[in-house]
Amino acid sequence: MYLLLGLVICAFIPAVLYCIPLDREVGVYMTSKDDVGQKDNELDIGYDRSKPNPEELGGYFEGDIVLPREMDRNGLTSSKYRWPNGVLPYVIKGNYTVNETEVIKKAVELYHKYTCLTFREKLPSDEDYFAIVSSDIGCWSNIGRQGGMQVVNLQAPDCVRKVGTAAHEFMHIAGFVHELSRYDRDEYVEINWDNVREDHKHNFKKQREGEINEYGVSYDYNSVMHYSRFAFTENKNVPSIIAKIHSKAKNMGQRLGFSIKDITEVNAMYNCSEKTQVAWDVYNERKPKVAADEYIFSE
Ligand SMILES: *[C@@H]1O[C@H](CO)[C@@H](O)[C@H](O)[C@H]1NC(C)=O
Ligand SMILES: *[C@@H]1O[C@H](CO)[C@@H](O)[C@H](O)[C@H]1NC(C)=O
Ligand SMILES: *[C@@H]1O[C@H](CO)[C@@H](O)[C@H](O)[C@H]1NC(C)=O
Ligand SMILES: [Zn+2]
Repeated sequence: MYLLLGLVICAFIPAVLYCIPLDREVGVYMTSKDDVGQKDNELDIGYDRSKPNPEELGGYFEGDIVLPREMDRNGLTSSKYRWPNGVLPYVIKGNYTVNETEVIKKAVELYHKYTCLTFREKLPSDEDYFAIVSSDIGCWSNIGRQGGMQVVNLQAPDCVRKVGTAAHEFMHIAGFVHELSRYDRDEYVEINWDNVREDHKHNFKKQREGEINEYGVSYDYNSVMHYSRFAFTENKNVPSIIAKIHSKAKNMGQRLGFSIKDITEVNAMYNCSEKTQVAWDVYNERKPKVAADEYIFSE
């Protein structure tokens, strides 16, 4: 079964996707033993600030995304890449432990709670769907619906440790790119180009204004789609991304869950902005000590 799947995917990727050679780097990235199961706390809210997220090591278009042959950046606003009625049929084909499967399911639950997207098991009648696989290196996805079977690769264990990593890839498949590619990002972050690996400089390219729809939402350090400070670094001890508004950026690169702006954008893309009220109700009920734009919706 798994062997067969492996063959299907290997044939599928070069044939269907705009294929940039796989970067095997991610395979050597391992979270140190000390970090495994580390409790999230106020200071380190769910990620190790001294390490990039696993998807920030890949060799695709923007680290972890793959564009189909015919789709350029201009395609990102096209509604043909959306999932009709916000329904995303999927199958889990990866070789995951019970706990790893649980992480994926929790990401799905976050979408169900805060957005109008529906992730459900693929039915025989579904032509367009995605398979969650672990057979390739790294964490990566396409942007939006491609038609037919497409793949979200979540390599175990690195890509299935944090709910936010799966939530991040699912936002790609829903149709979103990275926060850092916003046309206005230079007002919010400084890229330390000297410390970005030469072969990964393309990951820091900006969109031109109008190439993506921001749905009226302002730049979001808190987004699950934001890179961490150490994304694609040459010297692993020196950041590649420096926030210009330090006080707002303490969650930068978080992979715990959604920001309020993530939720707002997903619901705007899928024409169900009223659903965002759920997040506001949760926020108001929990009365957290942080402002809404710094709060992470992780359950
Ligand atoms: C699945 O993972 C288990 C545990 O890591 C391993 O023993 C097994 O060989 C894997 N199976 C496949 C088909 O990769
Ligand atoms: C799986 O999760 C449970 C509950 O969170 C935990 O107690 C257990 O140690 C985990 N198992 C593994 C193998 O990580
Ligand atoms: C949302 O509504 C717009 C305008 O009516 C439409 O063009 C678009 O296709 C809709 N998007 C989705 C995902 O249904
Ligand atoms: Zn990504």
